[in-house]
Amino acid sequence: MKHNFDEVVDRRGTECKKWDTYPADVIPMWIADTDFKCPEPVVAAMIKRAGHGIYGYPVNSSNFNKAIKNWQQKRFGWEIAEEWVEYTPAVVPAIVFAIRAFTQPGDHIVLQMPAYHPFHQIIPDNGRIIAGNELLLQDGHYVIDFADLEKKLSHPRARMLLLCNPHNPVGRCFTREELLKIGNLCIANQVLVVADEIHADIIYAGHRHIPFATLSEAIANNCIVCVNPSKTFNIAGVRTGAAITPNKALRTALHESVANNKAYGRTIFGTLPVEVAYNECDYYADQLVEYLQGNLAYMLDFFATRISAIQVVKPEATYLIWLDCRQLQMSAADLQKLFLEKAKVAMNEGSTFGPGGTGFMRMNIACRREVLEQALLRIETAVNGLN
Ligand SMILES: Cc1ncc(COP(=O)(O)O)c(C=O)c1O
Repeated sequence: MKHNFDEVVDRRGTECKKWDTYPADVIPMWIADTDFKCPEPVVAAMIKRAGHGIYGYPVNSSNFNKAIKNWQQKRFGWEIAEEWVEYTPAVVPAIVFAIRAFTQPGDHIVLQMPAYHPFHQIIPDNGRIIAGNELLLQDGHYVIDFADLEKKLSHPRARMLLLCNPHNPVGRCFTREELLKIGNLCIANQVLVVADEIHADIIYAGHRHIPFATLSEAIANNCIVCVNPSKTFNIAGVRTGAAITPNKALRTALHESVANNKAYGRTIFGTLPVEVAYNECDYYADQLVEYLQGNLAYMLDFFATRISAIQVVKPEATYLIWLDCRQLQMSAADLQKLFLEKAKVAMNEGSTFGPGGTGFMRMNIACRREVLEQALLRIETAVNGLN
């Protein structure tokens, strides 16, 4: 099957956060969903189910667990058992349940900075403390400051590492060596790893996603892996994800945390698209990455040849591109103003991702090529028109 990623689909007026937040003359390249229609088998299954006309309580069938298992096996070679899968209402809630299950108020949760902005909320909102481990930008490439990481992990109150792999916003797809080192440091310091692997399907040529739990048996026993097909198949609005936990004791504790919040009730329009996407839509994931690879090449060339004041941090994964705008020497507020009000392109302003984010912007390139071209032309005029 072939998916047409150039199909024009008007998202305005559909209560769409990405398109309905800003005025009509703004091109939205911010929040992390794509502008692409879902795979045809997903759409067909949803229409068929909707046509049944009754949407009562569903039974928690094993089809959901099977689909998660199936995808991990065929895409990444990770053999998991169905019972390792806990349904969660998306990834961020799964992380919150893990925070509540495995840490206490006042405990430290280590986070590699800059970090996905909701992580800055869920940790303090639950009375835990963020211990930031800043990623270092060296020659246009982010590396892990392992000395600092070890220091943060060895703090007596350090209980959890919230790892984002692939990393949003810096676009790193961490290598086996890096992940092994992280995993072993966490074991040595008795720090549990919660690995957010929501961007695992979108990996660019020359890189490979390694599920954190596949590194070693000891590491598998010390982690919880959170997944969601929402980024890949554009189904974030159905609010359904999963946590995969190989270790039985951890799994039981996580389940209790989910159950205590009565958060185990699935929705028929949540599990159905996940199952269909994971079981039938490999073709779509493959073609999506191919299309994004084209968008990426286009934008890399555009910035390099036409907007020399901005450096693109070349991503290894994700459709979220980290733009180094520090040469413009503008405050966070002025940068946002420049792009939103002058260029009329909405992006995420870097300081919202915490330390290391100031002077950067995050651009979502999961749109039609034509929209990307328009946005880049607007940015070129706005930036190159600065005195
Ligand atoms: C790293 C990361 N984790 C989690 C999420 C949100 O996931 P969910 O909607 O499943 O809570 C996002 C969305 O952008 C993300 O980038």
